[in-house]
Amino acid sequence: MEHFNIAIDGPAGAGKSTIAKLAAKRLGFVYVDTGAMYRTMALHFLREGIDPKDETAVGAACAGVDVTITYKDGVQQVLLNGENVSGLIRSEEVGNMASAISGYLPVREKLVELQKELAKRENVIMDGRDIGTCVLPEAPVKIYLTASVSVRAGRRYKELADRGVRADIKEIERDIEERDYRDMHREHSPLMQAEDAILLDSSEMTLEEVVRRIFAAAAERGCQA
Ligand code: DC
Repeated sequence: MEHFNIAIDGPAGAGKSTIAKLAAKRLGFVYVDTGAMYRTMALHFLREGIDPKDETAVGAACAGVDVTITYKDGVQQVLLNGENVSGLIRSEEVGNMASAISGYLPVREKLVELQKELAKRENVIMDGRDIGTCVLPEAPVKIYLTASVSVRAGRRYKELADRGVRADIKEIERDIEERDYRDMHREHSPLMQAEDAILLDSSEMTLEEVVRRIFAAAAERGCQA
């Protein structure tokens, strides 16, 4: 049976994962966070001391990595060679490494295959950078979710402050701009809006408004929440 898949792409901090998780729960779909997979590969390369600029070394190291997705109480867990690393992949260091190595073809080929497999097995809401353009080009609903740099930086600042981490908002903005630039200008599968994707700017929208727009798009394609 063909499954109903929803693709959500957009830059870091636009609110993709919060929205995708909420929408998946209400629709009874499986949420697939593809960024977590790139982060898991990145953690492996960091542990192995691999230079992200050394494309040959990154390519060679791909062969020895096994990334697996499982679900615990409905929450995605990522396993790196059998070890659950879900709690270790959220740091800025891992995020920056993930952005740097996600431009390489061997990394992408490995993870895209895994992502396509997951979408064949279940109804999924999958978020990332290239889901509507490369991973699930046939998805009946595609969303491109964005927000201004200052709104995204403000959200990140608050997230860090809530965890008791002090940060410099200007530095966060610079980091976001650099990451956007890298994600949008790489050679392979750069971040961009698919032609048939719906553009949503969450700068001035509430979570509920965004989720409602996604449900409306799904309903139009015959999927009821
Ligand atoms: O969404 P995130 O911050 O967890 O993603 C980390 C990095 O992984 C991001 O900078 C770009 C990369 N990525 C990608 O290239 N393709 C995806 N489908 C998801 C993430």
